[in-house]
Amino acid sequence: MDFSPSHYFSIYFALILVLLCIDKGAIGATFTLINKCDYTVWPGILANAGSSELGITGFELLPGGSRIFPAPPNWSGRIWGRTGCNFDPNTQQGTCATGDCGSNQMSCNGGGASPPVTLSEFTIGSGTQDFYDMSLVDGYNLPMMIDPHGRTGACESTGCVTDLNQQCPNELRVGDGAACKSACEAFRSPEYCCSGAYASPTTCKPSVYSKIFKFACPKSYSYAYDDATSTFTCTGADYTITFCPSTTSKKSARDSPPPPPSPPPPPAIGSETRTGEIPLIVNSPWFSNFFTGLSSKSHSYASSLIFTLIMLIFLSLQ
Ligand SMILES: *[C@@H]1O[C@H](CO)[C@@H](O)[C@H](O)[C@H]1NC(C)=O
Repeated sequence: MDFSPSHYFSIYFALILVLLCIDKGAIGATFTLINKCDYTVWPGILANAGSSELGITGFELLPGGSRIFPAPPNWSGRIWGRTGCNFDPNTQQGTCATGDCGSNQMSCNGGGASPPVTLSEFTIGSGTQDFYDMSLVDGYNLPMMIDPHGRTGACESTGCVTDLNQQCPNELRVGDGAACKSACEAFRSPEYCCSGAYASPTTCKPSVYSKIFKFACPKSYSYAYDDATSTFTCTGADYTITFCPSTTSKKSARDSPPPPPSPPPPPAIGSETRTGEIPLIVNSPWFSNFFTGLSSKSHSYASSLIFTLIMLIFLSLQ
């Protein structure tokens, strides 16, 4: 596609907007992360092997906060929530009580979540269907939901609304109940881990523990071969990932006194926007992350955007 700058500006801009909004095949997917927990969550993002890291690999999400960022076509990786993080205001270094990625800082920079952790997993298509799921195979640390805004396909929401920390069997409980281990992590046996003689769908069956997870969160992976009821597809979708989708969840019994039932959302801070607001493209981190998040294959697309921006600035100066 080649537009001459002499074309009428609004037509050009409208075309770019159409490309932005409609041509999902070219931009992959947009993730919107929303924190409905009454505590701060530090999302972590890790690309799978063979997929490049997004421009964003970790950040802070205050209660009521949200953040939008794109992922290129063919991106695959996982997104999770870290809790109980403590980053030194001077050195920016620190760790998290759950979901820590070992980077010792806000960004995970290629570090994976240490279990137990609730994981949302994505394989974004390229004009083909996306695959997504919520996994409790590595345990559980907080309620999380995936809502696709789909265009075609089944496009079902999935995730775990239940606060499993409150239903966690004692032998799986971590510390004060901030997280719930998988039976595999707690007991390290091939039977629970679907390894060794149990490394196939026919030999690895749901355990008494995975059944507790499945009962609480029917659409999530409760053990490694739980595919049939846990994998979802959608084509050309964007995804909203909500931490604590139902407001009943509390971090742990340690968190006292309980906060008021519906605290007012805090004002927008920095790149964050309040829940429910659709930020303007130019104001949102989406734009700055857009370029770093794209693979080189999308360069012509990115340069047409840059050109549009330059035209916008040029015209506003006249
Ligand atoms: C995505 O992957 C498919 C299959 O490997 C490939 O044909 C396609 O060109 C890729 N698309 C992009 C935009 O990288």
